Amino acid sequence: MTAILDEYLAKHPGSAQRFAEAVGLFPGGVTHDTRYAQPFPLYMTHGSGPRKWDVDGEEYIDYVSGHGALILGHSHPAVAAAVAEQVTRGTHLGASTDEEVRWAKAVMALVPSVERVRFHSSGTEATLMAMRLARAYTGKRKVMKLQDHFHGWHDYAMAGSDRPSPGIPEASFESMVIVPPATFDAGVEDALNRDPDIAAVILEPTGAHYGQLPSTFPSS
Ligand SMILES: Cc1ncc(COP(=O)(O)O)c(C=O)c1O
Repeated sequence: MTAILDEYLAKHPGSAQRFAEAVGLFPGGVTHDTRYAQPFPLYMTHGSGPRKWDVDGEEYIDYVSGHGALILGHSHPAVAAAVAEQVTRGTHLGASTDEEVRWAKAVMALVPSVERVRFHSSGTEATLMAMRLARAYTGKRKVMKLQDHFHGWHDYAMAGSDRPSPGIPEASFESMVIVPPATFDAGVEDALNRDPDIAAVILEPTGAHYGQLPSTFPSS
């Protein structure tokens, strides 16, 4: 363990230096919870396709891929060209556009079950709205979540998290039903049978924290 740590420290002096400055700027020194790392996170300069490079010149295969959003990799030429062209036509028109209509149609073509589209500026906002929508549609109050599964950092999503959650009212947690990993299979079914007030089940299909803790369903 010490050898791994020593190698990390030796290879990343540039990241260490930047993190020392960042702790005075950002809570936890990072701009997104998932970037928090011990003893410090890595600072990247650029990416191309499946690779990215840090401030110390190290090259990486990027399994993070923009938190899963970059299915075409970093700076795919078609994506880079489209962004560059669009940015010269206005940066925030504050109005409806042809592009949003084309985009929504593309989403609906890719996911045929989608009936209407609502764009959100973050996953946190999207899961908050999805829970609200499920409650409104069903008239039920609660949402079921699998323990440690990550759905952003709004008050409901933080229920059953492995992180401390000061500042979140107990009432938010009371409307969440948390199923622990060891009992996913029976636990989900059991909780749904026992509690008629559950509007929706939310989960990371690949397992908690992008599959870092794979979900095991005992009878499957
Ligand atoms: C499965 C899942 N849900 C929700 C979120 C939250 O998204 P955001 O960071 O855009 O708020 C993430 C972020 O990585 C995620 O992986």
